[in-house]
Amino acid sequence: MLTNKTVILGITGSIAAYKAAELASKLTQAGAKVEVVMTGSATEFITPLTLRGVTGRPVVADMFEPTLEWSIEHVALAEAADVVVIAPATANIIAKMAAGLADDMVSLTVLATKAPVIVAPAMNVNMFENPVTQENLARLKARGFIIVDPEYGRLASGAKGKGRLAELDKIMAAIEGALGGSADLAGKRLVVTAGGTRERIDPVRYIGNPSSGKMGYALAEAARDRGAKVTLITASSLPQPEGITVVPVETAAQMKQAVDRAVAKADALLMAAAVADYKPRTVSRSKIKKARPGLTLKLVRTPDILGEVKGKFLRVGFAAESDNIIANAKKKLVKKNLDLIVANDITDKKSGFGVDTNKVTLIGKQGKDESLPLMSKREVADKILDRVVGLLK
Ligand code: PMT
Repeated sequence: MLTNKTVILGITGSIAAYKAAELASKLTQAGAKVEVVMTGSATEFITPLTLRGVTGRPVVADMFEPTLEWSIEHVALAEAADVVVIAPATANIIAKMAAGLADDMVSLTVLATKAPVIVAPAMNVNMFENPVTQENLARLKARGFIIVDPEYGRLASGAKGKGRLAELDKIMAAIEGALGGSADLAGKRLVVTAGGTRERIDPVRYIGNPSSGKMGYALAEAARDRGAKVTLITASSLPQPEGITVVPVETAAQMKQAVDRAVAKADALLMAAAVADYKPRTVSRSKIKKARPGLTLKLVRTPDILGEVKGKFLRVGFAAESDNIIANAKKKLVKKNLDLIVANDITDKKSGFGVDTNKVTLIGKQGKDESLPLMSKREVADKILDRVVGLLK
């Protein structure tokens, strides 16, 4: 998809500028011709030399000194672009783009291009949440710019909030989408579950598990980017992704109810959620006093959502296993009558619950098992969806 495409990467003055070098490297490795333009303040964070080293191409940072290759006119770069990506995009460049200013190489390129423009903001949470930044982003969106939302997390200031540059996989997916990437799930309806359910013991305690929801969200976002209509039934508190119908739930019973309702029109159900298998038989209405010397909880089974769901659609389950990974996953594939099961190896610290990466084996009813190396959850999601596309045919 990226082979021989001209991608202009505009870098602006954010602490996240160093991540642009990795993005440039990924794009170059994928076959793109990466032309880097930088603002003066971006060069304070990362040198043009680094970007030149990564892309093997000249870097333009000063609009009055274009490199020989682009010296004919300084808008030549903008005209050659198949896609323009501004990553990281500061509040300042977002304001300039919204106002139509062109007083540095990045804003000039954006104003002069007819190619799709992708903007990946990265900044302090207060700057991001400031109504003026939000208005500027809304103006850009209304003009057809593609915004890759920043993520929640620890920011350079030490504070926590929304403002971290999006995962590079997400930016790559947006670039591929803008280049007419695969829409192989267009018209399909997918239901995805995510997160760990919680079963209340009393108003302040519950039985839960460490599922963050990252795997389910990666699946939902990847399916959306491939054209599917996605319903995400989630017990996770991750921020709501755009362009997806989100149904928040807490317990296994609530998740079952939401799944049963959503699958009525679905082509596929993908259950990445870690559902509690047991819940307390009774929930105490008042907080249980810890003055008691001991506490015995009587637990009862929760419904097996995937095993009991009715209807004609593709069923994909997950199995987080520590021993006999493949054999145990295969048992679940048969018992729950699944078309595909994704076996997670949770003995690897970089795989399974909470982390951004996963090491899985895809096991179908027929054919060879497909063992994948450790990769980002987004990459795993795309591999699963490749199989889903094949099975839906
Ligand atoms: O959320 P993350 O932090 O990104 O972590 C991802 C994950 C490790 C939670 C996820 O990738 C995963 O492996 N989820 C399945 C966890 C598991 O072991 O499930 P299970 O073996 O209990 O269940 C097998 C399948 O049946 C799963 O698809 C599950 O959603 C489903 N199930 C389980 C119990 C139940 N009562 N109802 C169900 O539908």
